[in-house]
Amino acid sequence: MNNASIQPSKWPVSSRIFHWISALLLLVTWLLMVVYQYTETKLYIGLHKAFGISVLCWMIARVLNRILTKAPAPVPMPKWQMLVSQLNHFVLYALLIAMPIAGLLMSVYGGRPVDIFGLFQIPVFVTPDRSAARFFNDIHTNIIWPMIIAFTVLHIGAALYHQFFMKDKLINRMK
Ligand code: HEM
Ligand code: HEM
Repeated sequence: MNNASIQPSKWPVSSRIFHWISALLLLVTWLLMVVYQYTETKLYIGLHKAFGISVLCWMIARVLNRILTKAPAPVPMPKWQMLVSQLNHFVLYALLIAMPIAGLLMSVYGGRPVDIFGLFQIPVFVTPDRSAARFFNDIHTNIIWPMIIAFTVLHIGAALYHQFFMKDKLINRMK
């Protein structure tokens, strides 16, 4: 059978919504940080934090959705590719949860409450500690962020490889 004629089954609609909104929230959170770095306007770091916390809430709901819904059968591929893709997905979930937690801990250990879109504040729920704040800053910016970039590049690269070389319509499963 011609590979191009295979129409694999899709992810549940809830999973597709969770996937694309997560990607969008990640993009917005990052762009707000870029804008902040150029303008040094407090509004943008505030929005970066609020969108970052939104990523955390969204990812918690996404994990619950993942547990409660059924994933489609995997597309045929060599076993090692399957393992790498499953590991990559797991790591992406973990990183998108760890990143906002590190950001939140950086802020509260720095003695700063986190304002969520002017609706409410996450109070300083720890005893402020500069070295802990520096530690979480380091984790946020120098460890988790480069990992998010690396694993996302691998992820999008693999999706494009399936799309254009394998021609197995993998991306349609998530559309
Ligand atoms: C998925 C969510 C998040 C992503 C992807 C993200 C990403 C980033 C990135 C790329 C930077 C710039 C690193 C650099 O200097 O090159 C940054 C800095 C920062 N983030 Fe986040 N962040 C997220 C969530 C949060 C949250 C929830 C908070 C706080 C509540 C936060 C607080 C900060 C602060 C204060 C900085 C500035 C650190 C500094 O300039 O030393 N972030 N973040
Ligand atoms: C242009 C961008 C993107 C494309 C084309 C894309 C494509 C896909 C596709 C086709 C799948 C399903 C794979 C399968 O059926 O085996 C998938 C799953 C997944 N994607 Fe993406 N993706 C993109 C961006 C992102 C981003 C930015 C993230 C997060 C950093 C992400 C995280 C995930 C995760 C965690 C899964 C696994 C879903 C699960 O097992 O519940 N994706 N993506």
